[in-house]
Amino acid sequence: MKPTARIMVVDDEKIVRESVSVWLQKSGYEAVPVEGGQQAIDLLQTEQWDVLLVDLKMPRVDGFKVLHKSIETNADIPVIIFTAYATVETAVEAMRAGAYDYLVKPIDPEVLSMKVEKIVERQHLAQENAVLRKNIDTLCQFDEIVGTSKPIQQVLDLIASVADSDATVLITGESGTGKELVARAIHRNSPRRYKPFVAVSIGALPSTLVESELFGYEKGAFTGADHMHMGKFEMADAGTLLLDEIGEMDQKIQVDLLRVLEERSFTRLGGSREIDTNARIITATNRDLQVEVREGRFRQDLFYRLNVIEIHLPPLRERGDDILFLARHFLEKYNAKSNRKKQGFSSAAIERLTNYQWPGNVRELENAIERAVVVGKGPQIQPQDLWLNAEQSPPKEEKLLPLKEAEKRHILQVLEETDWNVSRSAQILQIDRATLYNKLKTYGLSRPKDRS
Ligand SMILES: Nc1ncnc2c1ncn2[C@@H]1O[C@H](COP(=O)(O)OP(=O)(O)OP(=O)(O)O)[C@@H](O)[C@H]1O
Ligand SMILES: [Mg+2]
Repeated sequence: MKPTARIMVVDDEKIVRESVSVWLQKSGYEAVPVEGGQQAIDLLQTEQWDVLLVDLKMPRVDGFKVLHKSIETNADIPVIIFTAYATVETAVEAMRAGAYDYLVKPIDPEVLSMKVEKIVERQHLAQENAVLRKNIDTLCQFDEIVGTSKPIQQVLDLIASVADSDATVLITGESGTGKELVARAIHRNSPRRYKPFVAVSIGALPSTLVESELFGYEKGAFTGADHMHMGKFEMADAGTLLLDEIGEMDQKIQVDLLRVLEERSFTRLGGSREIDTNARIITATNRDLQVEVREGRFRQDLFYRLNVIEIHLPPLRERGDDILFLARHFLEKYNAKSNRKKQGFSSAAIERLTNYQWPGNVRELENAIERAVVVGKGPQIQPQDLWLNAEQSPPKEEKLLPLKEAEKRHILQVLEETDWNVSRSAQILQIDRATLYNKLKTYGLSRPKDRS
């Protein structure tokens, strides 16, 4: 589909402005004839235009003034000027002053169409590019890595300092701590950001396939290889290659990988041509590679090659307030995604979230919050909505409570369940409202948003 555009056609000669406008309208543009320079300047300030066609020689306010004004108010509108044969020098002067192009009178409709079409298409591409770049650039910040705790801030600092180098990075941490997220953040903040990011999970592949996945194969390399297959090293060339779960890599491929890292080249299976690679290598593992080395399952020389810079992601349970920070982040995410309006977490839910051990780390937290947002009943998220695995929780140091404390907590729970509806809570508690108000005062309880 041809992109549309809103075009202003300014000429003091009625026949010119009208015939040009009609021609452009027939070609599918929105063209508006304007009879003089001053009107054009007024319209530039009050309406949105994509292209400006303007005659140079007009009484009072001429084409130059319109051009200057247009540049002054909106440098992005391309201006094409009309000029007679006799004044081509003036046209050149106008181009120097910032006009995009010129057309010689009498205007040839074919030339006009061609020039306008080219401008509009170029503008359209530029807009698309700007949107794409903006999308990529916003992703370039770390804002998808949520957390304010000291350990995660240290991780962000490390990402920032290694991103623009080509150094090999080893990302370690338990499952679900965000290793892949960090690898992507390094790529997006590196000069390679417009090149591919290729992730391959070594653990997910049978070891016989790892080699052909990484290095590719030539047609006829083995039975069934009926076409050439490009490996991940080739795909990631000039970009970043994440070798995930590197601890699962078997010994033979460790040797191959070491060779590629040393020689920066490889051959496809069944081939003999050396292919250079300029991929930046990031590896990730939830195993302790030093233990793997000590026990002879991972080559020490490869370990040193990969471990030039280590980024360790601490488990979620060691990130303090990040748990709640992330919980709120995911609450908002899934509120928006599932069209819910959960208002937050009850204090009992908060206690549950902070006391839980999170063996599955951020991934487990995200899943728990998504589920709670989607299936939870009340306006707030309650502990029972979280469905956390009780066995994995540490034994809560639940002392037996004094009666007053138990009463206070019970009242609070009822109020949270009813979204602080005092009448409804009084009914459930089978006391009258005045008594409930007295108790709220005694225990210093108030609705969270009323608190100063
Ligand atoms: N700090 C964070 N902020 C926001 N989301 C996060 C954060 N850390 C992890 N996540 C999210 O948690 C999920 C798991 O993260 P990721 O896949 O990066 O973990 P991983 O360490 O690679 O896990 P595994 O070892 O199981 O492969 C993803 O959906 C990711 O977006
Ligand atoms: Mg991962």
